[in-house]
Amino acid sequence: MFKRFRRNRINPVLRDMLQETHVRKEDFIYPLFIKAGVNIKEEISSMPGVFQISLDKLEDEINDIKRLGLKSIILFGIPKVKDSVGSDALCEHGIIAEAVRKIKSFAPDIFVVTDLCFCEYTDHGHCGILDIKNQTVDNDKTLEISAKQALVHAKAGVDMIAPSGMMDGVIETLREALDANGYENLPIMSYSTKFASAYYGPFRDVAESAPSFGDRKSYQMNPANLREAIAESIEDEMQGADILMVKPALAYLDVIRKIKDTTSLPMAVYNVSGEYAMLKAAAKAGVIDYERILMETMIAFKRAGADIIISYHAKEVAKLLNGESL
Ligand code: PBG
Ligand code: ZN
Repeated sequence: MFKRFRRNRINPVLRDMLQETHVRKEDFIYPLFIKAGVNIKEEISSMPGVFQISLDKLEDEINDIKRLGLKSIILFGIPKVKDSVGSDALCEHGIIAEAVRKIKSFAPDIFVVTDLCFCEYTDHGHCGILDIKNQTVDNDKTLEISAKQALVHAKAGVDMIAPSGMMDGVIETLREALDANGYENLPIMSYSTKFASAYYGPFRDVAESAPSFGDRKSYQMNPANLREAIAESIEDEMQGADILMVKPALAYLDVIRKIKDTTSLPMAVYNVSGEYAMLKAAAKAGVIDYERILMETMIAFKRAGADIIISYHAKEVAKLLNGESL
């Protein structure tokens, strides 16, 4: 029996030539947290390098992102006032609508995605209008306001919307609302398979969106379920989603691969706040080679089937790909 495999690895040129998976700057969407107010640039203690920023600080931030060669961002808003229905998210002058208009005014070439949800805008911190009797969200009432939120973002000039609330029927609802209002070319990236995960902990600090009671288990998925994970994504494909997503990423590589093999749509992964915080903490403790672990993790997402990676590491990855040091 002859040997083959090692021969292909010994010469570095041949090894590189045969590399199957690549990480590119084009693969990334970088999250930004926009906070109402002025002169705010506040670092999150559990997520070093991640900031809440106000509208007046946006231009510098976008210039930095552009200089690194990144082209796409996803926006989250922290409004001044929260109420039971998340009114800020439904208003043409809400924090996200203002942010989109502002970014488009000085950087029309940046691809702007908006996260579509209500947990950052409601005083109770749940992802929609409450159903008090069942201690959860009222799915269908939330669909109505989701369509309104989508049109506010569309009018502001967003390039893609990303509904993250896991409401049943939301993709169909949004597609119909967009099409009926002349936005048939606006794509929808669905948070189609989103698990009820402890990995979102640091995000809820930065987005000030922790639920004031209960949890999100009635609308987010059970991490133990693979068949249901596939069904959720395929359901959104059938409702007209343009891009599917698995979230979180690192603990769910098998789910990414399985959905990738089941759909013909592009796939995104969300490398979430807890995953970021863990790498940062390990680096700070001096127990890992941070840069190598970072790139190995990104390659793993691509190898599992991701076309798009939403990551707080995007600027660092771009720097490393540019040959700059962190
Ligand atoms: C809002 C939303 C969340 C995240 C993205 N959009 C939080 C949640 O569902 O609790 C998590 C992102 C992260 O942890 O980095 N629905
Ligand atoms: Zn939410």
